[in-house]
Amino acid sequence: MPNPSPLKLVLLGPPGAGKGTQAARLLERLELCYLSTGDVLRRHRAAGTALGRQAADHMDAGELVPDDIVIAMLLEEGDDPRHGFLLDGFPRTIVQGEALEARLAAAGTTLSAVILIDVPDELIVDRISSRLTCPHGHVYDVRSPSGRAGACERDGESLVRRDDDHAEIVRRRLAVYRDLTAPLEDFYALRQLFLRVDGSRPPEEVFGAVLAALEGLGAGDAVAR
Ligand code: AP5
Repeated sequence: MPNPSPLKLVLLGPPGAGKGTQAARLLERLELCYLSTGDVLRRHRAAGTALGRQAADHMDAGELVPDDIVIAMLLEEGDDPRHGFLLDGFPRTIVQGEALEARLAAAGTTLSAVILIDVPDELIVDRISSRLTCPHGHVYDVRSPSGRAGACERDGESLVRRDDDHAEIVRRRLAVYRDLTAPLEDFYALRQLFLRVDGSRPPEEVFGAVLAALEGLGAGDAVAR
């Protein structure tokens, strides 16, 4: 049955800010369709689709995949937006932000909020160089028990390092974020949708701040346990 007042949320933030980590926590509370464009692109690459082949070189270089490819992918993969969603890694450019706005307007709805997880660059390089992921996108720190064991605690798959998680590529991804994605902060501030959360604290504290921000929006019933 559709959720009566579904939230429509975007998680924004630099690479390694903790978007995927917080998305997993939010999805334990909220029944929302989740779409991570990075995960979808990696699935296409692993399956060897034409889209995956088009995206590969851009991803490995730390660049964005061209807007037209990602927008077409989102329109194809996304469910009816009126039922609520959590987008992780989309939009990443003003053009993508405008495409999302047009898609929602066509469905007669709008975003509830854009949550920026803000983390300084020096922390990001440390986090990403310690990250392991499983093929389904579950994320671990190499120093955690699962990270040390090298196996995903949810599906038992082997944990690996992502191809774009090497230091020089991470620095390029950060520069791309500042040039192309950070302008979305003003785009959403103008629309009064922007919530900034300090992502430099431990994950459970960041999650508390995300929930508090959503409660401040009047979404307390949706996130209450
Ligand atoms: P994508 O997969 O979206 O990568 P990203 O945005 O660079 O983000 P990450 O997945 O690296 O990090 P995250 O913020 O989810 O952090 P995480 O929770 O894992 O995109 C990859 C590529 O795909 C892009 O470069 C681009 O080429 C392409 N792409 C994707 N979307 C696109 C689009 N819309 N347009 C064009 N191209 C697109 O956490 C990181 C680490 O930190 C983990 O080890 C975690 O355990 C740890 N951690 C998390 N939170 C904390 C905390 N609070 N304290 C300590 N450690 C923490």
